[in-house]
Amino acid sequence: MSGADCQDLPSLRDHIGECRRCPLGETATQVVFGVGDPHARLMFVGEGPGKNEDLRGEPFVGAAGKFLDELLGSIGLTRAQVYIANVVKCRPPGNRDPAPSEIEACTPFLARQIELIDPVVVATLGNFATQYVLGTKAGITRLRGKLYRVGGRRVVPVLHPAAALYNGSNRSVLFDDFRRLRTVLERDDAPSPDSAPPTEAETGGEVLETPTRVLTTRSEDETVEVGRRLGALSRPDDIIGLSGGLGAGKTALTQGIARGMGIVEHVPSPTFNLLLVHPGERTLYHFDLYRLDAPEQLDDIDLWGTVEAGGVSVIEWADRFPGSMPEERLDVRLEVIAPSERRMTFVAHGERARVLVEALVAGQDVRS
Ligand code: URA
Repeated sequence: MSGADCQDLPSLRDHIGECRRCPLGETATQVVFGVGDPHARLMFVGEGPGKNEDLRGEPFVGAAGKFLDELLGSIGLTRAQVYIANVVKCRPPGNRDPAPSEIEACTPFLARQIELIDPVVVATLGNFATQYVLGTKAGITRLRGKLYRVGGRRVVPVLHPAAALYNGSNRSVLFDDFRRLRTVLERDDAPSPDSAPPTEAETGGEVLETPTRVLTTRSEDETVEVGRRLGALSRPDDIIGLSGGLGAGKTALTQGIARGMGIVEHVPSPTFNLLLVHPGERTLYHFDLYRLDAPEQLDDIDLWGTVEAGGVSVIEWADRFPGSMPEERLDVRLEVIAPSERRMTFVAHGERARVLVEALVAGQDVRS
């Protein structure tokens, strides 16, 4: 069983156990899982526990936490009304930055926490949380002050509250960020259609969203058809990461991609296979990372080494190890919104993926 199988927060916490999946577990007093309303509309993601959090087992209870409470109060909220978690659940010794391998080992749990809480708005506090949630390497000072959308959720990057403890002038920046956060939340209260463009107050004057597009399908055939068009538009070396629970339609989409690439053999659900290779004019590499426990396993078995130049890779459960995914890729998140209805959110990482998504939503299709 992986964390992705856990159906509620207590079972996810049990699944993490007394964690030794990375070295942080050796030195930490305890895992600091998260706290707050399990159905919160607003979720905060910080970096990792500090000394106080490590001792108390609760995020943001030290000086930065006191300031976070004050910021929450400034927009009429208490910590009981929101959910607070961190990118890494164990304290990095001496409050050093978490290492990339530690983030990779821990973020599948954060990803599942976000899925289970299903907040409308995620506020990322500081660099590490923002970079993980937005899948970017850009810094918080460039990213804050704007509204992003990832997989149907609104993401508001905020300066880390600790930044105001080191430099008092950051206090007013943080109060500004929280005012913007309140505007984003209030907009969600209003019965406006989701497609309405964000207001200037929400975006801070700049509409800068990760290049995200959404398509909805109403039957498995329609999902296969979207895949077929995606496959027809694909080019050698394209990489497509799929995420979404069991039955969300990842394999149906892949079958469509294969069809669009002109592959005639049957493309089964990979289930117990890490990789199935389907030869064609362009080879389709169909990965399934569901059964992997740690990102190092990807290197151990040299999965990427098996992909030859010119192929197209489709990676199911790509969201389990976002830090190990190739930087330039198209992510597709599939969600079940009714028994036969699926929402597909396409997030383009890089220019090639952006061109591919734009062609897909514009209805371009080279083979039809
Ligand atoms: N800083 C964080 O990022 N998280 C905490 O839990 C405490 C301080």
